[in-house]
Amino acid sequence: MADLDDHQAHAFVIGDPIGHSRSPLIHGYWLKQADLKGSYDAVRIMSADLPAFVAAIKDGSSGLAGGNVTIPHKEVILGLVDDVDEIARQIGAANTLWIEDGRLMATNTDSHGFAANLDENAPGWDQGKTAVVFGAGGASRAVIHALLSRDFQSVLIVNRTIERARALAQDFGSRVTAHGTEHLPDLMRGADLFVNTTSLGMGGSEVPDIDFTVMAENALVTDIVYIPLETPILAMAKRQGLRTVDGLGMLLHQAVPGFAKWFGARPEVTLELRQLIIADMEAHA
Ligand code: ATR
Repeated sequence: MADLDDHQAHAFVIGDPIGHSRSPLIHGYWLKQADLKGSYDAVRIMSADLPAFVAAIKDGSSGLAGGNVTIPHKEVILGLVDDVDEIARQIGAANTLWIEDGRLMATNTDSHGFAANLDENAPGWDQGKTAVVFGAGGASRAVIHALLSRDFQSVLIVNRTIERARALAQDFGSRVTAHGTEHLPDLMRGADLFVNTTSLGMGGSEVPDIDFTVMAENALVTDIVYIPLETPILAMAKRQGLRTVDGLGMLLHQAVPGFAKWFGARPEVTLELRQLIIADMEAHA
């Protein structure tokens, strides 16, 4: 794939399906900004073809410097690379691969993306002690990792299926506890942060009434879902006068560490990039 005279890196996002990934837009924007000749392409890789794709990165025959991994490969990839870092191990999934000293490495940048989005849009958010995390799917693992690494004392996972919340609490230790949705009204009292990780309200599903006004003074409500930008849960919190941050910044910030590893320059999340992605979302709505 790589031209031998071309010293610029070539990176990818792999998944199945992959057509809807916005990663090529994000990295394409940064490549252009930095005037780099590298490339970043979406490649559809079916599960059966994943081992051969990874082998060709490892032996150098693909000419690829690394890339992103998305559904359905984020968990399986852990068993195919040479090294999995502590973050990806704790989250149980990887989204970013790169070559280091001839070894194929894997990490997960969603935890960084979540925290960096709030750092940018709600500085001081991590001074809170108690966070309510609504949902216990794959994405909530990255959120919990970020909250624990920013020293939240209590992370309350609330989920329709209590067993899934319990499994997460068990994995992440004593600061994380599991609760059924019926306890949400009580758990909201005095909480500093509320994070929605569920797809509730999308596709016509009903959103339960949540009283955000019982949260701590200056509490923050955020969502990791970014289509639409203002999710039903964010809209409800806003109507009640809460501070809110949407989830698009998490997508943008999670891309930063990968770009820096493959192309050697740390990119910036700009308003222009955000507008570019919003325009794309609107064009494909
Ligand atoms: P992801 O990997 O993106 O987090 P997921 O693993 O499918 O996706 O998890 C989706 C989350 O949204 C889960 O917490 C799910 O609750 P269950 O574990 O009970 O399935 C939650 N969710 C989705 N639709 C929901 C609904 N209508 N009511 C309540 N929770 C819902």
